[in-house]
Amino acid sequence: MTNDIIKSILSRTTTNLYDPTFTLSDEKIYELVKIATTAPTSFNFQNWRFIAVRTAEAKTRLRKIAWDQPKITEAAVTFIICGQLIDYRLLPERLTPAVEMGIMPVEMMSILEDASRGLYFQQPQRQRDEAVRSGSIGATALIYAAHALDLGSTPMIGFDANAVTQEFSLSDNEIPVLLLAVGKALPENWPQKPRRPVSDVLDFI
Ligand SMILES: Cc1cc2nc3c(=O)[nH]c(=O)nc-3n(C[C@H](O)[C@H](O)[C@H](O)COP(=O)(O)O)c2cc1C
Repeated sequence: MTNDIIKSILSRTTTNLYDPTFTLSDEKIYELVKIATTAPTSFNFQNWRFIAVRTAEAKTRLRKIAWDQPKITEAAVTFIICGQLIDYRLLPERLTPAVEMGIMPVEMMSILEDASRGLYFQQPQRQRDEAVRSGSIGATALIYAAHALDLGSTPMIGFDANAVTQEFSLSDNEIPVLLLAVGKALPENWPQKPRRPVSDVLDFI
């Protein structure tokens, strides 16, 4: 079972060492995020925000509150991937473009709005879970898009979430799910580490 996409997935590794001289244009960063936003979200809520930290000054501020990890200043950009707490009242706005394009029948709007109200209204844990799910899935798409463009990436949970929220003015409804560095990987990086046997992680029922 293989093709070029599978080969790309299989060959990804986390980058630890970046070429600090390599930069990414804002247009390229925009393209990467555009690709990432095709990732799926619950009800197509798209409850995420990607903050591209790419100036030397902003990277230094982020590194200070992220375990002083050198890749934050050495990679071309480090994204603060924010998940947003689900507010079901935003759903009509998020679904309207699909209705206008004739993809979704208009009658489905109220059905989905009812379903999302039932799931998320006054359910802070579910709203938060969904923010973390959306942020994680968006970050994953960004990781593989970067790899397909021959860029290295590093997902990072090594940061102070409260400090990131304050320093980068996240809204009350936003959670910094992950930092994601992206840049040019140096050849000295480790190869991919082995995985647990599939038989340990897969159950057939
Ligand atoms: C949620 C998450 C958080 C991580 N946090 C960090 C981190 O703070 N610093 C770091 O150097 N690597 C971090 N990593 C990278 C992992 O250590 C790495 O993905 C794992 O060891 C497997 O290696 P591979 O991606 O090269 O296969 C993180 C990965 C994930 C998915």
